[in-house]
Amino acid sequence: MPEETISKPALHPGSSDFIVVSNRLPVDRVSTEDSDDGWRRSPGGLVTALAPVMASREGAWVGWHGAPDEELAPFHHENMDLIPVALSADEVELYYEGFSNSTLWPLYHDVIAPPEFHRTWWDAYRKVNKRFAAAAAKTAAHGATVWVQDYQLQLVPQYLRALRPDLSIGFFNHIPFPPPEIFAQLPWRAEIIDGLLAADLIGFQRPSDAANFLRSARRFVGAGVKAAQVQIKDEEGSVVHISRAAAFPISIDVTTIQELAVRPDIINRARQIREDLGNPRTILLGVDRLDYTKGITHRLKAYGELLNEGTLTVEDAAMIQVASPSRERVESYRLLREEVDGMVGRMNGQFDTILHTAVRYLHHSYPVEEMVALYLAADVMLVTSLRDGMNLVAKEYVAARGDNTGALVLSEFTGAADQLKSALLVNPHDIDGLKAAIMRAVHLAPGESSRRMRAMRRQILTHDVQRWSEDFLTTLATQATPV
Ligand code: G6P
Repeated sequence: MPEETISKPALHPGSSDFIVVSNRLPVDRVSTEDSDDGWRRSPGGLVTALAPVMASREGAWVGWHGAPDEELAPFHHENMDLIPVALSADEVELYYEGFSNSTLWPLYHDVIAPPEFHRTWWDAYRKVNKRFAAAAAKTAAHGATVWVQDYQLQLVPQYLRALRPDLSIGFFNHIPFPPPEIFAQLPWRAEIIDGLLAADLIGFQRPSDAANFLRSARRFVGAGVKAAQVQIKDEEGSVVHISRAAAFPISIDVTTIQELAVRPDIINRARQIREDLGNPRTILLGVDRLDYTKGITHRLKAYGELLNEGTLTVEDAAMIQVASPSRERVESYRLLREEVDGMVGRMNGQFDTILHTAVRYLHHSYPVEEMVALYLAADVMLVTSLRDGMNLVAKEYVAARGDNTGALVLSEFTGAADQLKSALLVNPHDIDGLKAAIMRAVHLAPGESSRRMRAMRRQILTHDVQRWSEDFLTTLATQATPV
């Protein structure tokens, strides 16, 4: 169990009024080589966003603990009751690596990698979704609110409603929802839409995601859509359920990042990072899960060309690329790792000097304190995703820059671009445009840099993750369902 785990009497089934259900719990079981106590914070934006929300609501969190073939009893952790759902090694392969991350993930991200469609993966997805729904049904008090998260669990609303019609069910999709022309490829498109429509409220990152979903609902299950509401009727034509789809752009825990950004030890660490890199004039930073949606190779290519042409030198500008390990047994991720390793090796071989390195490539995950030190050290933050539901790293960078310095180069294909309109927006496929944006960021006049950062900070400071969850949950509470 995580160190802060308090032994408390086991959770009484049926006692929770507020439950989050996501594929992953906020903590992940790892080998003792990787952590002192066998646990570490789970990867990705979903956990980053939801952990502070849950900690303030004292809810229960139903999810997988990251290790196959291990049954664990519920436990208490940082003000939350965690309810582990077990997955066998086969289910990890078919439901998680297969249907979730080799079918849905690429399909929902503009088919950047080709999605695969296998009936055995779909069967496992249904079976595991039923298990998550059963765990939530067992945990929920009468009339409780259950908030289901993300693409791995799109059938849970339907299974859960069948088990517990008394519940108020919300769903939030953290990743993009594709246009119907792409979603059409999915052999089980109608089943997925029906699974989601059983929720009272379906949240998306951007209005265009909600619109894509509603168009698919109309096209693939013949749903009657009026003012973003879908009416579900029984055979006699009476309305039995109303589902609503809308955008609720997710955010970050701004206060925590701001507090860390003024801590003297973290400010010192940022200075030390700069010194350790040989005091280059500019530090460029990329922070991503090692995922093909993030445009890491595009960013490296642009920077490599700038070095090659002599527009930049390694004394001028060093790049730090944090690429945290992700989904390492999935083929497309393995291939990406080889490609990035190769690119970085070639670039460093060509451009490094004894004193300076072109790319400091870190294939690790880091605690939030180190991340904030990196944000403080970075003059230019590079977010070049080819498609991204939101991208919380961009928001964290802005939150950390309390002195209004720094420049954010941000892909227009991220949800964050809708809100951070004063970033230097780029199309990462356009390598010349990306190079120009990097150079613009490197040479941004202090006045312009501070004007842009101020505007972005105004947005972030008034839209933190607590506001996001309140907006969603208040809307859910007022979404009447005539049962
Ligand atoms: C994204 C997804 C999350 C997922 C995270 C980490 O943020 O939206 O649902 O948990 O990536 O990916 P993983 O496969 O390690 O859970």
